[in-house]
Amino acid sequence: MTSTQAKKEIEELIQKINYHNDLYYQKHKTEISDFEFDKLLEQLIELENQFPDLKQPDSPTQRVGGTITKEFNTVFHQYPMLSLGNTYSPEELTDFDSRVAKGLDGDVYEYFCELKFDGVSISLIYEDGLLVKGVTRGDGVRGDDVTANVKTIRNIPLKVSAPGLPKRFEVRGEVFMPKDVFLKLNKEREDIGEEKYANARNTTSGTLKMQDSSIVAQRKLDCYAYYLLGEALGIESHEQGIHALEKWKFNVSNAYRKCKTLKEVFDYINYWENKRNELPLETDGVVIKVNSLEQQERLGFTAKSPRWAIAYKYKAESVSTRLNSITYQVGRTGAITPVAELEPVQLSGTTVKRASLHNANEIARLDLRIGDSVFVEKGGEIIPKVTGVDQAKRKGNLKPVAYITNCPECNTPLIRHEGEAAHYCPNVNGCPPQIKGRIEHFIQRKAMDIDSLGEQTIRQLFELNLVRRPSDLYFLSKADLLRLDKVKDKSADNILKGIIESKQAPFESVLFAIGIRYVGKTVAEKLARHFKTIDNLMAATYEQLLEAPEVGEKIAQSVILFFSNPENREEVERLRQAGLHLEAVIKEVTLDSNVLEGKSFVISGVFEKYERDELRDIIIKNGGKVLSSISGKLDYLLAGDNMGPAKREKAEKLGVPIISEADFNALLSGGKS
Ligand code: IVH
Repeated sequence: MTSTQAKKEIEELIQKINYHNDLYYQKHKTEISDFEFDKLLEQLIELENQFPDLKQPDSPTQRVGGTITKEFNTVFHQYPMLSLGNTYSPEELTDFDSRVAKGLDGDVYEYFCELKFDGVSISLIYEDGLLVKGVTRGDGVRGDDVTANVKTIRNIPLKVSAPGLPKRFEVRGEVFMPKDVFLKLNKEREDIGEEKYANARNTTSGTLKMQDSSIVAQRKLDCYAYYLLGEALGIESHEQGIHALEKWKFNVSNAYRKCKTLKEVFDYINYWENKRNELPLETDGVVIKVNSLEQQERLGFTAKSPRWAIAYKYKAESVSTRLNSITYQVGRTGAITPVAELEPVQLSGTTVKRASLHNANEIARLDLRIGDSVFVEKGGEIIPKVTGVDQAKRKGNLKPVAYITNCPECNTPLIRHEGEAAHYCPNVNGCPPQIKGRIEHFIQRKAMDIDSLGEQTIRQLFELNLVRRPSDLYFLSKADLLRLDKVKDKSADNILKGIIESKQAPFESVLFAIGIRYVGKTVAEKLARHFKTIDNLMAATYEQLLEAPEVGEKIAQSVILFFSNPENREEVERLRQAGLHLEAVIKEVTLDSNVLEGKSFVISGVFEKYERDELRDIIIKNGGKVLSSISGKLDYLLAGDNMGPAKREKAEKLGVPIISEADFNALLSGGKS
């Protein structure tokens, strides 16, 4: 393909992708499947790799991330990012209004009310319509440059085009993780034995500071814009700023309202008090802003916050009820979760009967006793939590809760790993919920995808002693299935069909399905790609595991531990017998170009734009070869950051050219390095 053809194709792809993105994120509609969308994106990535010079600064491929930031640069804010004063009562808000009235010498003013989104504030700088920087609040004066991560948030425009757009402007907003995304993420973490995150806000904050932007992209963060800043913007009110943001396709929550009187402000506050629970994100109050920019300027700032705006915080609704007992749940990984069983009580419109207590430390911290009157809150959190004990109501004879020492399901003594808060039942292969949980994990969509089986069928298969480990599924007969309740001829066939079809699942799905602790779907994909076969993976040393992308000490140890267990190795053999894919399918390589034909490379170090795996693929797809050690015959040592000095020395001694990522891109586009 010539450069001119590529340019045309890239433009067309960008147009298509932007069209579908816009449809999805702004109008909540779809015309093509996720698969088709990903295909378009893949084509664009390929073309951009082939013709790096043609990559547009606002290309939608930036949304998929890939940039690794080792350390975030500190950036000074042009306008300090101040916080807001808080009020908690109508009286305090009335005081604020009096201060505003006084400050404006009796002039007429109006308020602009918005919800207070509970996320992480972000400053977005645009120049000539392009997003050039995304910076966290930091200490308000300077924050971290998290641009690469911010670019993965699909609701943040990479490019704004509109007539009369200011040359430079800043948009402030709140980055957040939608409630459903947070719940799903936690569920996935629980599934692979990771500790759950405490709340969506901290998770958002942690995500924004992740080094690998491709992981940030998978986290599906979102952003609401609520403030336009800049010089000579041609706007006179906050409201006009908000409308400009809407016109420029920023994601603005439509929950705002202009209020002419304090009464209208209170109406707004009351309206959203319960209604806000229906929103896709956590909110903890309302922000009330004086609308006119000229009046804002006259009111000015205190050292910490503007005098023209204030937050009204909703009180987290709290009720007290009796702690009837504590029960203990055993998860798939053996982790024990204590649950408070409460006297049913009404809270924010729902009946609450149970609340998670997280772990033994939490019970000790709260100093809980069965029979106590405890406070339960929903607050911003989705799951109710016990926040404390009503000491005044405590009866004298209650004893502190003694945490269980044995598994409630199989009576095995519990253990606690160093540095972890949870207790575990170590009876991995004999504890019923662990066995059932592993089979449920095995059949889930991201794993073997056997949707003809469900929780109930698995329970029965377990109870009838037909299935004790995932591989048993593949040796079930129709007669076995007919022993189950409600399973007739047709449904038995259907179950068998689902099981047989699952044998086609690719290696990475099998690797995820077998349930190695900490190995989620993404890590399984990386491992499958890196090691190619289960035998290579089982034979890998700790050091070799660490060489695989995204594998750190914790995962490496877990993989070693898993395969050092003879029962797990035996299970792998049974899955092999059943005919599952335990090897990655080597795709036939169709060459993208032959610009690297006859050239050999050794790749070493960490790269800005690519993972090492990706570089290897690009080299192969363009006719080159990748070698593992440096010799006199080698054509190039492709060096990233942190390459060992020994490699450099050896290459220099043998006269092998050492090239950078940029040199490599030039080679790819046919230039000379
Ligand atoms: S305006 C100078 N509007 O609240 C005023 N802030 O305590 C700038 N926040 O750091 C802030 N929702 O992270 C504004 N609708 C909203 C908001 C909002 C949430 C956060 C923001 C800020 C903090 C102030």
